[in-house]
Amino acid sequence: MVTPDLSAMRREYGTTGLDESAAGDNPFVLFERWLADAVAAGITEPNAMALATATPDGTPSVRIVLLKSLDAEGAVFHTNYESRKGVELTENPRAAAVLLWHDLSRQVRIEGPVARISPEESDAYFTSRPPGGRISAQASPQSQVVADRAELERRWEEAAASPEAGTRPDSWGGLRLAPESFEFWQGRPNRLHDRIRFRATDGGWERDRLAP
Ligand SMILES: Cc1cc2nc3c(=O)[nH]c(=O)nc-3n(C[C@H](O)[C@H](O)[C@H](O)COP(=O)(O)O)c2cc1C
Repeated sequence: MVTPDLSAMRREYGTTGLDESAAGDNPFVLFERWLADAVAAGITEPNAMALATATPDGTPSVRIVLLKSLDAEGAVFHTNYESRKGVELTENPRAAAVLLWHDLSRQVRIEGPVARISPEESDAYFTSRPPGGRISAQASPQSQVVADRAELERRWEEAAASPEAGTRPDSWGGLRLAPESFEFWQGRPNRLHDRIRFRATDGGWERDRLAP
């Protein structure tokens, strides 16, 4: 196996910067604009974000989830509440997320507390999912050890044949990350990147610039 020379890999980032006036005063507005830019640029799964959680003693873990909605309260994703991330968020309800839009030389970091959305909101999203995925959510004990692929397929067939097929299990639903801080990173030439951070204050946002 030939290991690529990782130390020699480098890419020069674009000249389009992020200045304070373009960043504006409201990070939600900027985030929506950057998401729209990522969609317009044809980026694959522009709503994919790495979500970091931690146990109460501070052991971190991270995985990708899909951002499924954004509202004035925060960023919503859906998962199994009994999964590793679900348990960690029950015990320590804070998370950090990062979205990377490589083709635009952009990343956005979001940090804050996490809470379950209402069962009604979870139902609304769950019923919008294709039937096969709904059955998988019922059949798969996310993050638990299973014997083999055959066990998963057997569980799926059982769930599909059940009278409950397609209904949302209590263990599956949405979580909302309520941003206390956003950081917008725009790659610039010579690694002199732009980093604009917003931190929630009473009723507003404080904006500052961080060194790259
Ligand atoms: C592109 C992509 C999107 C994913 N979206 C989700 C998602 O929205 N919800 C989810 O629970 N897992 C999603 N996953 C799977 C998670 O990364 C992870 O494997 C799973 O949630 C179990 O994580 P945990 O054991 O840390 O709880 C996605 C994975 C990828 C690669």
